[in-house]
Amino acid sequence: MNLKTSFDGLHLNNPLMPAAGPLVGDAEKLLFLKEAGCGAIVTKTISTKDAHIPKPCIYGDREFIMNSELWSEYPKEKWIHEFLPEFVAKNDGRPLIVSVGYSKEDMIVLIPLLDRFADAFEVSTHYVGTDLSVISETVRTIRSLTKKPIYMKISPHIPNPSGFAKAIKDSGANGVVAVNSLGPTMKIDIMSRSIQYGNDKGFVWTSGPVIKNLALATVYQIKQAEPSLTVIGVGGIATADDVIEFLLAGASAVQMLSAALLKGKQLYAKIIEDLPKALEKYGFSSIEEVIKTGLKNTVKYESSLPTLIVDKCTRCMLCVRVCPYFAIDMKDVITFNPEKCFQCGLCATKCPTKAIVIK
Ligand SMILES: Cc1cc2nc3c(=O)[nH]c(=O)nc-3n(C[C@H](O)[C@H](O)[C@H](O)COP(=O)(O)O)c2cc1C
Repeated sequence: MNLKTSFDGLHLNNPLMPAAGPLVGDAEKLLFLKEAGCGAIVTKTISTKDAHIPKPCIYGDREFIMNSELWSEYPKEKWIHEFLPEFVAKNDGRPLIVSVGYSKEDMIVLIPLLDRFADAFEVSTHYVGTDLSVISETVRTIRSLTKKPIYMKISPHIPNPSGFAKAIKDSGANGVVAVNSLGPTMKIDIMSRSIQYGNDKGFVWTSGPVIKNLALATVYQIKQAEPSLTVIGVGGIATADDVIEFLLAGASAVQMLSAALLKGKQLYAKIIEDLPKALEKYGFSSIEEVIKTGLKNTVKYESSLPTLIVDKCTRCMLCVRVCPYFAIDMKDVITFNPEKCFQCGLCATKCPTKAIVIK
């Protein structure tokens, strides 16, 4: 099965890369992800000043991570003289995307120092506000300093992803990485009446499976608005199926972090291993075919009544309990009241044995 994807002169053996964060925070970790088989490697965000990070800074729940980790805790010199030379010396040609932040002034210092290591730059806009003219000016500055591809990373608190995409395209960027973590959000500890995880304002950023649907919609919006831009999808990916969803929504490649923090670092290798089977299951013969397929919008205003596959029903009554229209009863079997049923579809999605079907 062909897992390759190419864009802007970068050639990836598969579409999965790590997202900027603790798992790409030094040379040892970058090399671990190379060995795991990631299609490209992304660094932790490097800035002109090393970050002063509150501790503890990573909270793991079942379906999400909350963090207050900021950017790299290491000075740029450590990256330039140690981590990046070590990684590049041991790399085998897979693209290295160097993540940098944040202001135009930071870029004037960082880009010339990092250009010889980078196959592309990813630029975090997480802490620069929402003024698109400021972000455009940053892109123009970077473009004047490098010929490498530039991917601007959008955060969910930046409104109007389509406007962001147009602004950065017009200023010379090649694409968007969508999305950074969601916030500000909060983690409260009732017992101690305190905020145990948080920055100096008491806030954390949320990521992981709970933000997947937001990330998918952002990828889709950007690709619809600016088809010539490369989109790299990130946010909540945890399985090979998730990767396929992002590619269908308009991404050319994807990144993952939180699911690996929640489930373990071996998840990168597992998803890459699972991809061929997942592609086959959905009738695709390559990653490029998924990317070319795109999505049909099948919106309609009439559906059909649910039907029950009697043999599959365990009579658990969940559908009766969850139906918001009071339209499902248990008589001898589950029955749907055509007068009351709104054809909303919730019962079919909640049924644990897939015994309810909507045609
Ligand atoms: C602990 C932690 C640290 C992060 N550090 C950075 C960072 O330095 N730069 C950056 O652009 N994004 C950073 N992110 C955001 C991720 O790169 C990613 O965009 C976000 O977590 C959504 O993807 P995920 O749900 O797969 O984690 C961080 C996220 C977490 C959880």
